[in-house]
Amino acid sequence: MDILHLKSPGNWINDPNGFIYYGGKYHLFYQHFPYAPVWGTMHWGHAISDDLVHWEHVGISIFPSKEYDRNGVFSGNALIKDHKLYLYYTGIQYPHPNPENIHLDVNYGLIASQCVLISEDGIHFDNFNQKKCLIPPSKNEEEMSSVDTRDPKVFYRDGKYYMILGSSHEGKGRLILLESQDALHFSIKAHFESEEFGGIFECPDYFELDGAELLFCAATDYLRDGLNFQAQEIYKFVDFNLEKGILTYEKESFYLDYGMDLYATQTTLDAEGNRVFIAWMRMPEPKLKEGGPWNGLMTMPRILSVRNHHLYFAPHPKVEEMFTKEVSLEELKGLSVKGVSVRMYEACEKEKSFTPYKIEAQMIEGGEISIGGYEISMKDGCIAVDRSKVYLKGDYRTKMSTPVLKDGAFLEIFVDEDIIEIYANHGEYVLSSIIYR
Ligand code: FRU
Repeated sequence: MDILHLKSPGNWINDPNGFIYYGGKYHLFYQHFPYAPVWGTMHWGHAISDDLVHWEHVGISIFPSKEYDRNGVFSGNALIKDHKLYLYYTGIQYPHPNPENIHLDVNYGLIASQCVLISEDGIHFDNFNQKKCLIPPSKNEEEMSSVDTRDPKVFYRDGKYYMILGSSHEGKGRLILLESQDALHFSIKAHFESEEFGGIFECPDYFELDGAELLFCAATDYLRDGLNFQAQEIYKFVDFNLEKGILTYEKESFYLDYGMDLYATQTTLDAEGNRVFIAWMRMPEPKLKEGGPWNGLMTMPRILSVRNHHLYFAPHPKVEEMFTKEVSLEELKGLSVKGVSVRMYEACEKEKSFTPYKIEAQMIEGGEISIGGYEISMKDGCIAVDRSKVYLKGDYRTKMSTPVLKDGAFLEIFVDEDIIEIYANHGEYVLSSIIYR
């Protein structure tokens, strides 16, 4: 059982997939390579939760079984239709599998189909009889790349089903909109390309929230600073007329998280109807646990809301409920504080030897908090972190900061064994970091 953060059950995980509340449970699937702590032939791992906080891994739900997905089951989302669970994904074939490592293509080549697996109950997944290839590899590269088109998100709106796909055209990220009457037969309606969507638009998400419309984009080649993790997760306020196939958006993009490790998201509605999101936190190297190495974990669930044309993030109430036991500074090993008033709460449960805790801090210019060498400070109105003492050396970002906070700097800092998440000023910005202890 994973508590607070869903972690790889062993070996590799990346993107969250098919996040949904179905049959009274939360289901979170994820990109998974079950054989080594590196990326390879993708499967969908599956975890179930009653409350978004306790996660039980229940094995692999989708694996390669057809010619069109023989080299991988890439990302996608889940939809409930006629009480069944439709899992949309991208089926991958390698044009030239590497004879020395069949889990990669020699030229990183891909042939992409858009597919679905229909499950009767969200527990059984018949990989032999319940898969369908909905959109075979494109024959018209101008209209849709046969290589870099992936990550379907299918949703229902006003009597129709829509699919959005991430893609690429002439080196620019592209979003493709398709429509359908039955969630199985789709036709292309429009496409939109822009340098602002990176080199390839991955894992698109689009939804309405508090009267605004938001587009989430995992944009490859977004940063050009020569460091690792060039791809970044951004969002935009948009106006998307699905019926007419017209997308307009604001020039300005925002990072979903200012720690730069976060990439690829899923959002869904929780049992109370809140828009909740979970994302993948990239890790440059595996960690070890009994049973073997693991690489990749998810953020805690965050509730999204829009106020004054700004996207706010709040820890899910079920997360807040965990941190009930107030503790003193002396009780927390490795924590030191300079010039900041703080209160600390320990989690009422733990997984192993480490007990997660939360720090509430009223940050001030020049104030400092050190969590075992992870340093948080405030400079010129921004929250800055320095993780050089608790992260890997090399071409990785160790110093990050938020934009200037507008209304004070109350921080909620959630500390777990492998990750620290800082909610600044009631979720005006969030900065999350993987750490190595
Ligand atoms: C994003 C991504 C997706 C793809 C998946 C493959 O991290 O590249 O576009 O479906 O990962 O694992």
